[in-house]
Amino acid sequence: MKNQRGHVIVLPYPAQGHINPLLQFAKRLASKGLKATLATTHYTVNSIHSTTVGVEPISDGYDEGGFKQSPGVEAYLESFKSVGSKTLAELISKFSDSASPVNCVVYDSLLPWALDVARKFGIYSAVFLTNSASVCSMYWHINLGHLTLPVKQETEPLLLPGLPSLAISDMPGFLANPSSHSAYLAVIMEKFGRLEENDWVFCNSSEVLESELMKAMWGLWPLVMIGPMVPSAYLDQQISGDTTYGASLWELSSDRYLTWLETKPPNSVIYVSFGSMADITAKQAEELAWGLIESNMHFLLVAKDSRDKLSIETVNSVEERGLVVSWCNQLEVLAHPAVGCFVTHCGWNSTLEALSLGVPMVALPQWSDQPTNAKFVEELWQVGVKAKKNEERIVTRDELERCIREVMAGKKGEEIMKNATKWRKLIIGTVSLGGSSDKNIDDFVGKLVEGEG
Ligand code: UDX
Repeated sequence: MKNQRGHVIVLPYPAQGHINPLLQFAKRLASKGLKATLATTHYTVNSIHSTTVGVEPISDGYDEGGFKQSPGVEAYLESFKSVGSKTLAELISKFSDSASPVNCVVYDSLLPWALDVARKFGIYSAVFLTNSASVCSMYWHINLGHLTLPVKQETEPLLLPGLPSLAISDMPGFLANPSSHSAYLAVIMEKFGRLEENDWVFCNSSEVLESELMKAMWGLWPLVMIGPMVPSAYLDQQISGDTTYGASLWELSSDRYLTWLETKPPNSVIYVSFGSMADITAKQAEELAWGLIESNMHFLLVAKDSRDKLSIETVNSVEERGLVVSWCNQLEVLAHPAVGCFVTHCGWNSTLEALSLGVPMVALPQWSDQPTNAKFVEELWQVGVKAKKNEERIVTRDELERCIREVMAGKKGEEIMKNATKWRKLIIGTVSLGGSSDKNIDDFVGKLVEGEG
């Protein structure tokens, strides 16, 4: 039967840094005429709002509390695999007699079992990679045996096609220390072992951002660049008018921070956030706070749960100069003219958002793909600096202050700002109508609309 319109189920892993880009992708597909349904867990379904994308619940087996209700990562991923496969299949079946039967599942790379569900129904499958293509290439090399785990390094830096030379500290922590996150790593490796079985392999990045890598890997792997998946209002008014992702797993602090930003001069405020998953130590939180205080600049600090790690004296001093919130609309903050610098853990979404909005960064990577993203911020795109850690693996207050000054003042600051403006323009080009990422999405949409359902 011809499926004239195409109906895609988009399945994110239920964490903020995964729901955001996958929901944005679903909106892009809807803006191009496809029917798009986001399938997400019961625990997250009420946090997601969209006027163009349908939202349907599936189960991870922990409907009351999601991941936090589970005994740990391994049990959670196992449960999601068994219960999720069943409930995803039920959702696809529910639509089968409707006017819009599902003809493709786009699934998060942490949920590789969705491929089997799509195969069972004989529909298209596409995996969505939420890391940079460069980080993905490392996993790809491991899967083919070009790189063995744990990655060891004696003296020489590691050389991989299309990547700058890498010290072990520039690579995802999983690789040097696989046992530290073995459940995630097992899922990641399962996914890379089956990459070719998918009809599409999408990556939330752009050919302009990782051009050397894409040249080196040309013809070797099936990656299709469709990003950055940043709400289009910030990039291209012609696509749609979204100013938020439309999903917030935390309650927004009142929008007092926007009123506060309004009172500050252009490029004068440091915005500080460590995303949704990284958890910094009490010692690091204290050094971070004092580095900000001693910088003598205004700052907006997102302290999701690190505020209680600070001493009373620190909290009082922080509040004299800066504003502390538990969660904000990061895009609105980064787009605000008062913000001149982003102190970030370099989660891939945060990195893409800062690049897309032209905001210079001070990188304090914590785990996962963040060390590689931080290296690229400093060396490849030259849009910021990476803070150095001491022997205790802490970024001291002096080091943070030094980095902030380097990014916000002087010759180096000017150079960084120039680069940030350049990359923003290139990104706008790639996601705008007719740009390389946009064309790749069009090719996919064309195939689904015409394809056999
Ligand atoms: C994690 C990984 O670090 C990331 O690299 C991976 O690809 C996805 O999972 P996370 O640690 O949450 O994600 O960081 P990040 O990727 O930066 O995503 C955080 C998201 O939350 C961003 O889209 C950001 O805009 C949003 N955010 C953060 C807010 O909306 N408000 C805040 O106060 C803080």
